[in-house]
Amino acid sequence: MSDKTETNKKKNFSRRDFLKSSASAGLGVALAGNTLTRASFSRGKEEKKKPEGLNVAFIGAGAQGRILIESCLRIPGIRIVAICDIWEYSQRYASRYLKKYGFTVNIYEDYRDLLKKEKNLDAVIVATPDWVHAEQTNACLEAGLHVYCEKEMSNSLVKARTMVETSRRTGKLLQIGHQRRSNPRYIHAIDRLIHEKNILGRVSQIYAQWNRSKSDMIGWPKKYTMDQGKLEKYGYASMTHFRNWRWFKKYGGGPIVDLGSHQIDLFSWVFGVHPTSVMASGGVDYYKNREWYDNVMTIYEFKTKSGTARALYQVQTSTKHGGFYETFMGDNGSIVMSEIPEKGNWAIREAHAPEWDSLAKEGYLKSEAQPIQQLKTKNIFLDVRVTAETGSWPLPVELAKPVHQPHLENFFNAIIHGIPLNCPGKTGYECAVAVLMVNEAVRSRRLLKFRAEYFKA
Ligand SMILES: NC(=O)c1ccc[n+]([C@@H]2O[C@H](COP(=O)([O-])OP(=O)(O)OC[C@H]3O[C@@H](n4cnc5c(N)ncnc54)[C@H](O)[C@@H]3O)[C@@H](O)[C@H]2O)c1
Repeated sequence: MSDKTETNKKKNFSRRDFLKSSASAGLGVALAGNTLTRASFSRGKEEKKKPEGLNVAFIGAGAQGRILIESCLRIPGIRIVAICDIWEYSQRYASRYLKKYGFTVNIYEDYRDLLKKEKNLDAVIVATPDWVHAEQTNACLEAGLHVYCEKEMSNSLVKARTMVETSRRTGKLLQIGHQRRSNPRYIHAIDRLIHEKNILGRVSQIYAQWNRSKSDMIGWPKKYTMDQGKLEKYGYASMTHFRNWRWFKKYGGGPIVDLGSHQIDLFSWVFGVHPTSVMASGGVDYYKNREWYDNVMTIYEFKTKSGTARALYQVQTSTKHGGFYETFMGDNGSIVMSEIPEKGNWAIREAHAPEWDSLAKEGYLKSEAQPIQQLKTKNIFLDVRVTAETGSWPLPVELAKPVHQPHLENFFNAIIHGIPLNCPGKTGYECAVAVLMVNEAVRSRRLLKFRAEYFKA
């Protein structure tokens, strides 16, 4: 163990003390419910000499890397020991931020140096642009490290498949960052209410969307402009490409992949099967100088055990109307969910459906239905086209943590306790197959069929 690691370990305790005092001072730091307790870090005999907890490095400390760093700081026993990022701005931002919490980290530009020099690592978190995920993840797995890799697993299915294969061959864990899979609100809605209690009856439709307002290309502080030689060394054509990689085909999959994959991943979870076909329409209609479709509307078909089902999805980047949420619809009711609970965390019963009071008594739903705002009947005549409304039942589960934290906890607990990952590489790959096919459907203007073997990795 290096001196730095020992120092970090000690400092980690004072950081926790700080977090505790912040929480008690009402600063909104939620410690309650952390699943990684100090006691839970006890290891087997052969590892007695190792300190409790895990040594973790980050590859990629941009917008999402920083969010994951913040979540890791809330998890006792996680020691961030190194940061790798090709951009000085991100290196400085992350290391300064970590210093505030008592962590002095080693900084690397190239992940190969990190892997060569850091000999005490347990796990790596990869939060770089999609196109380098496979190369970096495979190298970390080969080096004997467990990897949490952000979604989209890759912008290439061939490369994504190698990640599953490497994880299998090395026996190292690979978690993909579809964090809704570990969100207790989603687990309650999908596993408990839809699957276990069959609250919605036959679920045959899902509607989901992610709409966001128009946005300019992302800039950068001019003093942190990378020279052309360095950009090219790492495969970026320009600073504009480097900062806006999502919009360019070489590096990412565009909004349907970037935003849509979080929600499209839920479709197979809810229906219990992979899609059988997809059709889609979209285009580069609003923005200039961007390669990927700025709006996409798509329809998936599924053959579930109770019959054909469909999912309708849209992503828009020039209007935020409706924001982002998912609606799972069955013949007995619907559940509306969103990663933002105010936009979705409730169930709506159809008038003819079996009563839900007993489910509320058992704690599956909150005790009382909230009335849905009725149509004002003063000047409007309700007729046979209008179905009577019942009520909206809030779901009882809340998440008092940042949304990525439970997914990271699941990853760390899988390393320490051997519990199953909520989104192993294979699940991430299956989602990538469903999502990346949308771009192909838009391009070819054809209905595309999925064969069962497409989902095998
Ligand atoms: N799960 C989620 O909710 C969520 C949300 C946002 C982004 N993401 C994912 O996180 C990843 C990063 O997205 P972001 O928004 O942070 O992008 P970003 O551009 O803000 O950050 C990327 C960082 O990676 C660095 N980088 C680029 N190439 C590198 C390389 N070869 N080696 C080392 N560092 C390199 C950049 O300098 C930058 O600091 C993407 O895969 C994205 O899809 C996930």
